[in-house]
Amino acid sequence: MSEPRQILVTSALPYANGSIHLGHMLEYIQTDMWVRFQKLRGNQCIYVCADDAHGSAIMLRAEKEGITPEQLIANVQAEHSSDFADFLVDFDNFHSTHSEENRELSSLIYSRLRDAGHIATRSVTQYFDPEKGMFLADRFIKGTCPKCAAEDQYGDNCEKCGATYAPTELKNPKSAISGATPVLRDSQHFFFKLPDFQAMLQQWTRSGTLQDAVANKLAEWLDSGLQEWDISRDAPYFGFEIPGEPGKYFYVWLDAPIGYMASFKNLCARRPELDFDAFWNEGSKAELYHFIGKDIVNFHALFWPAMLEGAGFRKPTAVNVHGYLTVNGAKMSKSRGTFIKARTYLDHLQPEYLRYYYAAKLGRGVDDLDLNLEDFVQKVNSDLVGKVVNIASRCAGFIHKGNEGVMVSGDAAPELTEAFLAAAPSIAEAYEGRDFGRAMREIMALADRANAWIADKAPWSLAKQEGKQDEVQAICAQGINLFRQLVIFLKPVLPLLAADAEAFLNVAPLTWNDHQSRLENHQLNPFKALMSRIEPAKVEAMVAASKEDLLAAEAKAPAGNGELTKDPLSAEIEFDTFAAVDLRVALIVKAEAVPGADKLLQLTLDIGDERRNVFSGIKSAYPDPSKLEGRLTMMVANLKPRKMRFGVSEGMVMAAGPGGEEIYLLSPDSGAKPGQRIK
Ligand code: MSP
Ligand code: ZN
Repeated sequence: MSEPRQILVTSALPYANGSIHLGHMLEYIQTDMWVRFQKLRGNQCIYVCADDAHGSAIMLRAEKEGITPEQLIANVQAEHSSDFADFLVDFDNFHSTHSEENRELSSLIYSRLRDAGHIATRSVTQYFDPEKGMFLADRFIKGTCPKCAAEDQYGDNCEKCGATYAPTELKNPKSAISGATPVLRDSQHFFFKLPDFQAMLQQWTRSGTLQDAVANKLAEWLDSGLQEWDISRDAPYFGFEIPGEPGKYFYVWLDAPIGYMASFKNLCARRPELDFDAFWNEGSKAELYHFIGKDIVNFHALFWPAMLEGAGFRKPTAVNVHGYLTVNGAKMSKSRGTFIKARTYLDHLQPEYLRYYYAAKLGRGVDDLDLNLEDFVQKVNSDLVGKVVNIASRCAGFIHKGNEGVMVSGDAAPELTEAFLAAAPSIAEAYEGRDFGRAMREIMALADRANAWIADKAPWSLAKQEGKQDEVQAICAQGINLFRQLVIFLKPVLPLLAADAEAFLNVAPLTWNDHQSRLENHQLNPFKALMSRIEPAKVEAMVAASKEDLLAAEAKAPAGNGELTKDPLSAEIEFDTFAAVDLRVALIVKAEAVPGADKLLQLTLDIGDERRNVFSGIKSAYPDPSKLEGRLTMMVANLKPRKMRFGVSEGMVMAAGPGGEEIYLLSPDSGAKPGQRIK
C-alpha cells in the first residue's frame, strides 16, 4: 500500500449576503463527494470553507436592514452552516473571511508582495456619490446607454444593446444608492503587479493544473498581456484596512482566497496533528485543490497563484472548474419557481436524491449541468430505489424468515464476485478524476447484473418448493454481499444510506478496501426501508414554494412593516398550493392601537376553537379601532407565526384597497360563524 496522501480541499467561499441555492449546491456537493471518497480511501483529506463576508454589497445590505455588518454576517453564517449540514456537506471547518486569522494572513501576504516590489500605487479618477460620501463601483451607477440611449442601464454595460463602456460615458449618470448625480473625484489606489508573473502563469496554467478548456480560455488573456490589478477600495468599506494606509481597504477579492488559508489555520488551532506550514510553505508535499465555478476562474488561476508565488507560499495542485446549473433546461428563474433555495429543497425532499442526481450528471468538463425535474424523479427512483435498495429488500426477508437473519457462507456466484472486484479500480479512478457520472454508470451496471442474477435464480419461487432452503439462503447471502459492495462504492455520494445500510448489515463503518472482503456466517439486523421513492407531488410543492419565496421577497421589498403590501405578482400557483391556505371566518373580539407603532392594530380574533393574536397594518383606515370589535372578517389561519417588535403575529386578516384611509376589511355575508373554513 502506498503512503496516505495529505490533501487540502476547498470550495469557493459563498457571499455572506444571500441564501444558498441549488446552483451553489452543485459545487459544495461535488467537493464533498470527492473529499468523502479520499477519506474512504484512507487518505488524510481536510475540507475547509468560509463565508466571504467583505465588500460594499454586504455593507449596504446591513445598512438597509438596520443592523451592523457583523450581525448580518453572523446571521447568514448560521443559515449557511445549517443548509450545508443538512445537505450532508461535511466541512472540517467553516470559517469567515472576517476573522483574525484572515486579517493576519492578508497583512502578511500584502507586506511580502509590497516588500518584493509587486505593489504599485497611482491615482484613479472615479465617480463619487456626494450624498452618500462614497466612491461608486460600476454596478452602483445607472444612466442612459451612450450607444442606444436605453435608460436605466448599469455603469459598465447595456442590457439592451450589449455595449460595454466606462461609467464616465453613461449619459445622465445617477447613483443607484442615493439617486444623487455623481461627481468625478481622484483617489490613490494600490495595484498588484500581475504582469510580474506572466512567465510563471504561462507555465503554471499548462502544467496539468487546469482542465484544457480552462487553460485555453486563460491563454487568450495571457497572450494579450496581463493588466495590473486594483486591490484597494476607499472608506466607507466593510473589510480590512491596508496596513499603514488609513482609510484604504483591501478589495474583497484580495482577502477572499486568503480565507482558504485562514480557515485552515483556524482548524489547526483545534487539531494539533495538522501543521499549517507543512501544507502552505513553498515546497509542501501536501496536495491543494480548489473547486470553483466557471465565473471566478481568473481570480483562482491568475491572481491567486501569482499572490502565493510572490509571497513565498506554495501554489495549488489543481483548480477544478465546473459549469453552471440550469433547471429544466433554462437559467434558474424566480417566476418559474426554479430558483430553488437549499432550504426550500430540504423542506420537501431528501438531500441524497439531489446528491445522487448531481453525481450521475457530473463529468470532468466545464459544461453546464441541467437539473431536469422529471428526469430527476425518474432517475433517482429507478436507480437508487429500483436497483440498489431493491437488492437488499428482495433478499433480507428470506434470510430473516428462513435462517434467523444469519447469512450463510459460500460464494453462490463467483463470476459476479469477480466482476464486482474487477470494477473497483475503474470506479475509484473515475471518482479520483471527478468523473462522477462514469462512476455512477459503472456502479449501476453492476447493480443491473446483480438484479438480473437474482431474478434469474428467483429465490421467491424456490422458497415455495420442498428442499430448496439451502439454495435460497445461498442466493440471498450472495445478494446481500453484492449489495454491501454497491454501498461501499456509493458511500461518498450517499453517506446516510451507507450509515443505515451499515446498521442493517451489522458492520462497522465501511471503508473502500472492505469491498475486497465478504460477509460469511454473519448475523444481520432487521431490515428497514432504506430509501423511499420521490413523489412527484413533493417536487411540485417545492416549485410552488419557490414561487412563494419570490412573492414573499417582493412583498417585503416596499418599506413598511405590517403595511398593506402592493398587489401580489401574477405568478401562477398550483391548485395544491392554494388548497394549502387555511382561510377562516374570524370574529374580532378586541381591536387596539399598538403603542409606539404608527400603522398597526393589535387584533384578538376568535376562530371557533381558538383565539389568535394578529398585528395588522390597517390603523390608518380605522382610527377608532374599538368600532371593529364584534365584527366578522376573514383570516389566513395557517400562516407561519411572525415575530414582530411588539409580539408574535399569528395569522393575517384580509383587506382590499390602495392604503391610507382606503383600506377595506373583508367580511362574509351575515350568518357565517367564526372558525368556518372558506372554500
Ligand atoms: N465569494 C465568491 C467566491 C470567493 S472564493 C475565494 C463567490 N461567491 S458566490 O456565492 O457567488 O458563489 C460561490 C460558488 O458557487 C462559486 O464557485 C460559483 O461559481 C458557484 N455558483 C453560484 N451559482 C451557481 C450556479 N447557478 N451553478 C453552479 N455554480 C454556481 O463567487
Ligand atoms: Zn445600449
